[in-house]
Amino acid sequence: MAMTRSIELKTEIPGPRSREILERKERVVAAPLSLVHPIVIAQGEGARLTDVDGNTFLDFAGGVGCLNVGHTHSAVAAAAKDQLDHFSHTDFTIVPYEVYVRLAERLIELVPISGAKKAAFFNAGTEAVENAVKFARSYTKRPAIVGFEGGFHGRTLLSLSLTSKTHPYKAGLGPFAPEVYRVPFPHSYRGPSAEDALAALERALITQVAAETVAAIVIEPVLGEGGFVVAPREYLEGVRRICDDNGIVMVVDESRSPVGFRSRQWSARRRSWTRRPTPASAAPTLATRLRWQPLSPCSTSSRKRIWSSVRGRSARRSARG
Ligand SMILES: Cc1ncc(COP(=O)(O)O)c(C=O)c1O
Repeated sequence: MAMTRSIELKTEIPGPRSREILERKERVVAAPLSLVHPIVIAQGEGARLTDVDGNTFLDFAGGVGCLNVGHTHSAVAAAAKDQLDHFSHTDFTIVPYEVYVRLAERLIELVPISGAKKAAFFNAGTEAVENAVKFARSYTKRPAIVGFEGGFHGRTLLSLSLTSKTHPYKAGLGPFAPEVYRVPFPHSYRGPSAEDALAALERALITQVAAETVAAIVIEPVLGEGGFVVAPREYLEGVRRICDDNGIVMVVDESRSPVGFRSRQWSARRRSWTRRPTPASAAPTLATRLRWQPLSPCSTSSRKRIWSSVRGRSARRSARG
């Protein structure tokens, strides 16, 4: 079978050339970047990886969910070459370019938020989440953020503060950003039920933080690092209702949702809880197209002007000099 033929081992694993590179790595690469697989890639094609010793493996990790179209897809390579043949980088805010606008147009066509929408692009998932929170804070003029037990939102300070898992992400790295509160995530099998988790959220908005000081509730519709737990629809609808009742922005971190070339599988797709202003961040899955060009979109309904709340301020500031 094709699958069996794809895997081909020519040396012991890791092979001599991988071992040699990894010994060099030990001397010069910072220790927090620990490795899962001690093999060094030379070439990828579709779902196959060939290492520097000529061994071929199947890639089940896909850059941790970043490679919806696999390695070296001809259309991706052609688009990258075409772009590099024109120009490399200007910083869109210094000299804008059409492809950014085209990508925003395409994204807001796909993103399952009702009404008029706008998008912006950042460098990584963590940055998309941090920017969604910045917009929510600026729009609501409130400080607090509610996240979830088991949640993962990235490794920079605010995202890390929202990230739940202590080891390996947080232990020894505090203090963390203030005004971050955490509530249980529902789990249909292990509990709490959607109903109990909603009650816990409502209780937290009385006992932990005043609802009127909460800017955003940041949720993964499918908990990733926390064990690939799908939030029950009634829970998400409940969060939507609580957000609406209290003027809180619902931020949906879709970083692990499989949005790809042919897929429109946003977790938030066609759900009633997306029919209101909802900054949604979706990061690694869109970065798939250019592995060397990190990309994380952040999109929101423009109906309530969440998007312009920050821009208006910075424009005023620069006008004052
Ligand atoms: C749900 C979620 N949010 C945010 C991030 C952070 O993305 P990045 O590593 O690109 O900063 C990840 C990364 O896996 C993620 O799974």
